[in-house]
Amino acid sequence: MKIQKPKGTQDLYENKIKEYKRIEEFLQQVSYSYNYSLIETPIFENAELFLGIGEESDIVSKEMYVFNDKSDRKLALRPEGTAAVARSVSENKMITNQASLPLRLFYYGDMFRYERPQKGRFRQFKQYGVELYSEKSPYFDFEIILMADRIIKQAGIKNYVFLINSIGSTETRNKYITEIKKILTSKISELSDDSKRRLNTNPLRILDSKDENDIKLVSTLPTLREFLTAEEENYFTKIVELMESNSIKYEIDSKLVRGLDYYNDFVFEVVETNNDSRTNTILGGGRYESIIENVKDVNMSSVGFAIGIERLINKIKEDNPSFFKDDENFDLYIGSLSEQALIDAISLGEKLHNKNINIYIDYDYSRKIKYHFSKVDKLSAKHMLIIGDSDLENNSVSIKNTSTKESNVMSIDDVLEFFN
Ligand code: HAM
Repeated sequence: MKIQKPKGTQDLYENKIKEYKRIEEFLQQVSYSYNYSLIETPIFENAELFLGIGEESDIVSKEMYVFNDKSDRKLALRPEGTAAVARSVSENKMITNQASLPLRLFYYGDMFRYERPQKGRFRQFKQYGVELYSEKSPYFDFEIILMADRIIKQAGIKNYVFLINSIGSTETRNKYITEIKKILTSKISELSDDSKRRLNTNPLRILDSKDENDIKLVSTLPTLREFLTAEEENYFTKIVELMESNSIKYEIDSKLVRGLDYYNDFVFEVVETNNDSRTNTILGGGRYESIIENVKDVNMSSVGFAIGIERLINKIKEDNPSFFKDDENFDLYIGSLSEQALIDAISLGEKLHNKNINIYIDYDYSRKIKYHFSKVDKLSAKHMLIIGDSDLENNSVSIKNTSTKESNVMSIDDVLEFFN
């Protein structure tokens, strides 16, 4: 039987892997420019870690890859990065006192969710994320908004909008949940089966149900925002003002609650816009308090977001394909017209490698010039050098620039100087 890759996974090679590398480099450069440092955590963790981020969330209850290892430890392939980074910050004592703050971290790596694969949705996918630990201030929320906006803009994505909301504190949400549970219980027969179940397990998730009847019912409910305390409302308003004065395109979406349980206060997503419709979510994040073991006496809160790399790449390819322009063409193609020419080409090649010049040596010295021309075309080499016996005798070769068609005649030693 021919074995194929598991459903929802990808093989990355040739141009595709170059796109991933290009994005990774770009995201790294933006992160460093905002003073974030790189963190890498294991791709599997004790499953218990993720139970803490929402036992009732789909991500944890339905989509997590959980398995027992040979010593019967219950492990999980990470479905997201926030909990793992928080575990690492705590385990490695990165925050010991107030002076350790702010701590700015970013990560890039594979995540795993057992979801139904479709465009932009995989079972193994990559996320880039940032997590910022600091005292609580809307300026930190705004910093990561600015970063997310810069990434999207600099990548050349044109049609997008920030959806933002505040979901308040646990206390505020509990008050709200009590209220909507009362209303929805009185109309339970109108709810979808999924939402009936969620009424007991996770009523807030009913707000972003995709079921038409649920949507109608939800539109009659009071909004969570109406339940915010004055302090929570002011915090949110400050962020909105900052976005406004920096011309960041946003919409307040009172139904945005996000799919993980750890958030408090500010939450946001960036979605692609297509005329009037909101399509794929490119990134999501928000403020959270509860998942990092609070270090004694340190007044700390956290905020972060994560981007789905596959979705980011798809969108860039639509809006700004030149972002992936391959500028890693070979500097020099070397073809030989005799065996001795090939032997000389190989030793010249080694000298060029010493200078980190990208070269391609063709070993087929029995071919005519025409063959070499078509090979150069296919490889998009910037320069070509065809060596024949007479060239060696005269110690004179000709390097041709493949785009200007200009040729330069020089001695073999001068070839090294030419690429300096
Ligand atoms: P999330 O919204 O679950 O948030 O995921 C963030 C992004 O990952 C999504 O917007 C989407 O682009 C991408 N994504 C999610 N699932 C898939 C999938 N199956 N295939 C492809 N892409 C996917 C989090 O994970 C939070 N940890 C974000 C965060 C960081 N919040 C605070 N800090």
